[in-house]
Amino acid sequence: MCGIVGFIGNEPVYEKIIKGLSRLEYRGYDSAGLAVIENNELLVRKCKGKVADLQNNVGSQVLGSTIGIGHTRWATHGVPNDVNAHPHFGENKNIALIHNGIIENYASLKEALIGRGHHFVSETDTEVLVHFIEDIRDSEQVSLFEAVRMALTEVVGAYAIVVLDQSNPDELIVAKKSSPLVIGIGSNDDYYIASDATPIIEYTKNVVYLNDEEVAKLNRREGLTIVNIQNQKQTPYIQELELKLEAIEKGGYDSFMLKEIHEQPRSIQDSFRGRLNLKQGVVKMSGIDDHEERWKNAGRIVVVACGTSWHAGLVAEYLFEDFARIPVEVEYASEFRYRNPVLFTDDIVIAISQSGETADTLAAIELAKEKGAFIFGVCNVVGSTISRATHSGAYTHAGPEIGVASTKAFTAQVTVLFQMALALAEKRGTLSSGRLSRLVAELNSLPIKITEVLKTNEQVEQIAQIYKNRSNALYLGRGYSFPVALEGALKLKEISYIHAEGYPAAEMKHGPIALIDENMPVIVIATEGASYEKVVSNIQEVKARKGQIIAIVTEGDKTVKAMADHVIEIPRTDDSLVPILSAVPLQLFSYHVAIMRGCNVDQPRNLAKSVTVE
Ligand code: AGP
Ligand code: GLU
Repeated sequence: MCGIVGFIGNEPVYEKIIKGLSRLEYRGYDSAGLAVIENNELLVRKCKGKVADLQNNVGSQVLGSTIGIGHTRWATHGVPNDVNAHPHFGENKNIALIHNGIIENYASLKEALIGRGHHFVSETDTEVLVHFIEDIRDSEQVSLFEAVRMALTEVVGAYAIVVLDQSNPDELIVAKKSSPLVIGIGSNDDYYIASDATPIIEYTKNVVYLNDEEVAKLNRREGLTIVNIQNQKQTPYIQELELKLEAIEKGGYDSFMLKEIHEQPRSIQDSFRGRLNLKQGVVKMSGIDDHEERWKNAGRIVVVACGTSWHAGLVAEYLFEDFARIPVEVEYASEFRYRNPVLFTDDIVIAISQSGETADTLAAIELAKEKGAFIFGVCNVVGSTISRATHSGAYTHAGPEIGVASTKAFTAQVTVLFQMALALAEKRGTLSSGRLSRLVAELNSLPIKITEVLKTNEQVEQIAQIYKNRSNALYLGRGYSFPVALEGALKLKEISYIHAEGYPAAEMKHGPIALIDENMPVIVIATEGASYEKVVSNIQEVKARKGQIIAIVTEGDKTVKAMADHVIEIPRTDDSLVPILSAVPLQLFSYHVAIMRGCNVDQPRNLAKSVTVE
């Protein structure tokens, strides 16, 4: 996944590299490195660990340079250590390269290069690429720009790269395919390169998103030149960024995760701002209005997504079927892409992705496109690859989510999917106008209700204190709450490293019940609604086997309170909106458990925010 940055201009770049890498650390934090040219010398500093470790390793030598590149790694090829850290050098140590992605044919390229006298020090695919570029430049006697282009015509895989050449301190070469890359254009002939816009935003708002298979040269005298891999000149399309700097800073919270959990009243509001018409009791979404006939006549919806976004997709299955009477299938993008899925011309594929960069989801989209499907994207990151690869879509508008564990993005995804279901129900005439109006009004009241739920924080913290040292946890829910049980379990395992499983409550008796004893905490979403009585019976079954129950209930509930070890009350809402409210205490529970266990909640081990590799 890796985060990459590059700067060339009139000011020293060191601070910019460090700050930029810190903003991109969510993409990977196995190692960090940088390269600059100082007094015509190429200086590289890199080490295992985080950007802070890199800072401790940097001597004063690199501080004055006005050209440089930086990398924060999520290892795919080779363990996280100093040697495998980027940047990597060519044979003659005068070209340095950083890379995000995977060079799939690296083994055959490496073998050929070894035959031509090259020596490799790391286990990475990336080092092969820099040697390959160098080999072409030297053997074909071409410029570095041309050598990069020629090399990439033979590369199979995904890459966003930046290349720095000691003999040319006035130039950076960048290229991309599948992995994201954005170029910022400053006012003073300064250029900024990064995996996303967050390292750039405080210097310029003018950016160019490089397209797949484009190679760009950023030269102090000649400016920006872009060619595609077939060597045809491209005209850069300059866009203005909307992102605000305050939105990506911690704002007084100890972690991004806690900040993002607490932002949910606002992020939910933002995800329906301008879309609800309370007077008429309807939802307006341009992505649906613009393709009205297609949606009206949709025979089926296929959702493709990964992780938390897949859980949001499962909630959507209930919503679309319940409200709009459209059959829905929810697919792991990683499975869908390697099957030979059957798609019909009246199918609509909805791709859900916070980052808009997930490689598996993107590949599923490309496959569905090849099969002629219409693709609708639900993304959070504006201008992300997936948002540009889809035919239509709706942004979730949750604002930047930096914590690796998805929190506000999930509730915003469900909010957008809820609105889509209502908009479709209206068009297809599957809900009465009275019910529609009530649901629209209920959605509108959610931010206040989430504020109420957030007040349970201290109570949840006390519960976390009791269970923080358990090795396992079971999460149960039924109907709309089943996907939330899955999401609750994922949150706990990813940030606290406690093994947790989510199940439909009624499935417990088909196996997981064997796990229940006095050491097993069972977190149950037992709010009032269609399956309340059934879930109450499941709680009894757990209690009969001495399991401990932490239940999320509707405020004022007495039945569950009488049998559970702990209850967390949430305001009353429609069954279909419970996932948005009940997700919040589960996020807080995971957060507190993880903090009490000394875990880094924003950057859990082995994970990365944006999974741009298969
Ligand atoms: C969420 O907490 C996870 N870190 C992860 O499952 C994530 O939801 C998944 O990788 C999908 O990401 P996306 O929404 O950016 O596509
Ligand atoms: N394949 C490269 C490595 O392992 C880059 C990994 C990535 O982008 O995630 O170092």
